[in-house]
Amino acid sequence: MADKNEWGSNLSFILAMIGSAVGLGNIWRYPYVLYSNGGGAFYIPYIVAILLMGIPFLILEYGVGYNYKSSFAKAIRKINSKWEYIGWFLPVAVFMIMIYYSAILGWDGIYMILSLFKGWGADPNTYFTTTLLQSSSSMDGLFNFIPLIAVAMLVGWVIIWVISHRDLESGLGKVSKVLVPLLFVIMVVIVGFSLTLPGASIGLSELFHPDWSLLGNFEIWMAAFGQIVFSLSLGMSIAFTYASYTKDDADLITNTISIALANSLFENFAALGVFSILGYMSLQSGTAVSDLVVQGTGLVFIAYPTVFNVLGQWAYILGPLFFLTVYLAGLTSILSTIEPLSFSIQNKFGFSRSKTMTILIAVGAVISLVYATSFGGELLGFVDTFINQIALLFGVIVECIVFAWIFKAEKLIDFLNSRSKTIKLGKWWLIIVKYVLPIFIAIVWIGGMFDVVA
Ligand code: PHE
Repeated sequence: MADKNEWGSNLSFILAMIGSAVGLGNIWRYPYVLYSNGGGAFYIPYIVAILLMGIPFLILEYGVGYNYKSSFAKAIRKINSKWEYIGWFLPVAVFMIMIYYSAILGWDGIYMILSLFKGWGADPNTYFTTTLLQSSSSMDGLFNFIPLIAVAMLVGWVIIWVISHRDLESGLGKVSKVLVPLLFVIMVVIVGFSLTLPGASIGLSELFHPDWSLLGNFEIWMAAFGQIVFSLSLGMSIAFTYASYTKDDADLITNTISIALANSLFENFAALGVFSILGYMSLQSGTAVSDLVVQGTGLVFIAYPTVFNVLGQWAYILGPLFFLTVYLAGLTSILSTIEPLSFSIQNKFGFSRSKTMTILIAVGAVISLVYATSFGGELLGFVDTFINQIALLFGVIVECIVFAWIFKAEKLIDFLNSRSKTIKLGKWWLIIVKYVLPIFIAIVWIGGMFDVVA
């Protein structure tokens, strides 16, 4: 019998981890990052970031999690009892990510329904900002409560509860085994269709057109490292927690490589789809692709509905499929964001998984209602910047120091190598996780802070 917090198989672990990694970052962030940082030339910093940071760091986070087989907070307390608060800071920060993610999931749920009848009307921009979000510049309009959004978010929280309050394998494990492959299949269908649209090649040649001159530019290296941190959910104690749920022998090195590959495959696929559709849009409207490219909520909730409006009958298939993809990608990511805090609380107070999840989800749902006010859209932008520029990178630095230096990454090499059927770790790995990564991330982090302040 599997324990309440134990994967039923290595496949569940890998698919749940891919589910966490593949999210909004892959769909709405990556295509834009690729396009605006040198197109084809971006693959150089991108691959360097995966090899130099993504894979080595993920191996470290897994290795320590697997070694302790306990929650993040408990492991940090064991490493040094004075730092227990760091062990709580990250899981709580990830729980905050969960709450803001729930708002986007809610919006997307609404769009899934709207896409059945193009319910956003002729002007998707006005619909999103004014009708749906009711964003207002005047103070009295600030706290308008928007019931539609509240309901959509609560539906999401109920789905999360249904999956997460059960034992790990019968909830998250099973769901990942169904939803993650499904997500990939739907994505293939969407991209396949998009590639046949007239104008697709216009979008793609814009996307991949390499600007080699940018390679000397520090910013595109920062963008590549930032994307990999976000996209692979690094440094957030998620990978740590997932690895700690593994009881039998696992080949963590090979797992890491599979997960990084699947994540990159998905985001590059998404980029093909997004830019084919933008190319189509450009052909239809006569507007240059460069004027159509956006990321984030603007892409999903404004640019895409605009495209569906001119797409004719196909929009009724492609639209719902697209919003479903975003929903599934978001759902499998959001499910991972509750695990670190939940497991830390279970370990600290001896509560059951089911009780902890129920309490946390209720608390999250209530807090998330601030996003169902007309202030929500603005708050979300702020939290998003904070998370991307500060919290995630901070997590990576802290984990590098605590895991590589204080716990001592050396201790992991033999046991990781003995199970690995692919690459073996050597001194190069220690140099990366002890020196290269913390220094590089610190530079990126400080650069980002200046950006936020400025
Ligand atoms: N990796 C997720 C994505 O690409 C985002 C995420 C970051 C999820 C941190 C959880 C924690 O969308």
